[in-house]
Amino acid sequence: MKDNIALIGFMGSGKTTVGKLLAKTMDMKFVDIDKVIEAYEKKSINDIFHEKGQNYFRDLEREVILQESLKNDCVIATGGGSILDNENIKRLKETSFIVFLNATIECLYLRLKDNTTRPILNDVEDKRKLIEELLEKRKFLYQMSADYIIDINEYTNIYETVDKIKEAYIIS
Ligand code: S3P
Repeated sequence: MKDNIALIGFMGSGKTTVGKLLAKTMDMKFVDIDKVIEAYEKKSINDIFHEKGQNYFRDLEREVILQESLKNDCVIATGGGSILDNENIKRLKETSFIVFLNATIECLYLRLKDNTTRPILNDVEDKRKLIEELLEKRKFLYQMSADYIIDINEYTNIYETVDKIKEAYIIS
């Protein structure tokens, strides 16, 4: 059994919500990579993207993943784009059981349509189309990185999700 559980998946797939409950259930610590970045920069993700750009954010994300994945007994919620960097996948794989929250487009769209905290999805005319395009590009990476994949839709019960992840982790 690996030391940590890392949650990967698209924005809005529920990594933070599931992660918090999973950590509580498993008596593990919860780490949210985006929150660590925000605390370090003393700025929101939106402001980091606007003021310093996406490349700066990705460099910081890589550093924080490297640092946080060395800890033990943590449930780590990663940012949706973290799998775009091979280094991140490699680091997470070394210390974590990786779970992909595979949410449907409909579910993602419902959760993201009025959200303004994801800079990549702000100021676009057709949000659903952008979600579809980004997911198309990323899905393979999520699938390839995962030790365990759990399907999520708008009716999925979070307690069942947490139970399934817990079971898969314990037998891993
Ligand atoms: C991003 C996802 C976000 C955050 C940033 C970029 C992405 O995290 O890291 O806005 O590229 O998918 P969440 O998946 O937690 O929203």
